[in-house]
Amino acid sequence: MTNSSTILVFDSGLGGLTVLREVVAARPDAHYTYVADDAFFPYGHHSEDEIIARVVPLMGELIDTHDPDLVVIACNTASTLVLSHLRAAYSVPFVGTVPAIKPACARSKTRRVSVLGTKGTVKREYTRALIRDFAQGCEVTLIGSPELASLAERELSGQAISDADILAELAPCFVGDASDASARTDTIVLACTHYPLLLDRLERLAPWPVDWIDPAPAIARRVSDLLGPPSGGIAQSGAEMIFTSNRVHGLGPTLTPFFGGRAVA
Ligand code: DGL
Repeated sequence: MTNSSTILVFDSGLGGLTVLREVVAARPDAHYTYVADDAFFPYGHHSEDEIIARVVPLMGELIDTHDPDLVVIACNTASTLVLSHLRAAYSVPFVGTVPAIKPACARSKTRRVSVLGTKGTVKREYTRALIRDFAQGCEVTLIGSPELASLAERELSGQAISDADILAELAPCFVGDASDASARTDTIVLACTHYPLLLDRLERLAPWPVDWIDPAPAIARRVSDLLGPPSGGIAQSGAEMIFTSNRVHGLGPTLTPFFGGRAVA
């Protein structure tokens, strides 16, 4: 791979920006195309068959159009389902985003870990297998959140989101004896790329302090390893943001920090 690689980052919406910003920080020498499949958002509300039927052919069109050197599926709801289909169908390397259950369970001192994801992600056999293989004796609580991705999307778009709405999605993650720090959840896996967009709010609303596990830095390391040594330069080619709905997003200044300060076309 060359140092002017094109990386395509894909999510159902704006959540993948939390992965993008780590990848851009690790590899400022690459060109970035971000695709939000907002015409089909939220993926968490679709069946497994619907998501496979949507994402596999769409990815073929995106590969034909943008000719990426590497694709990041910055979506747990999709990755836990379609990665094997994508790898079978296309030769470009794919890096997925899946619930960080192994590092979370390795880190937890109280042996109580919660996994906060979409309803789709927590139902997946892929996620259940991660728990079977990597829980390391921890009690893992799966919480399928119906609305948190949409709330994050709305907040990033400038709408006011109430604490009560966020807390209703978050509260079930906190398990055990609230008054005993050794007998309650101490680690929460952010198993949806939208949730780190709300991290400040999650920290503030949490009934007690926990470690929040975001896989984005690990994904960025994996991407960088696959790309090979960086050039040390910054790609001058800017970055593109594509919405499958073709909507006019008007998010220019909001998006810039996620793209490492680049102008986003
Ligand atoms: N960002 C996606 C994820 O990581 C999910 C949001 C959706 O439901 O579309 O799972």
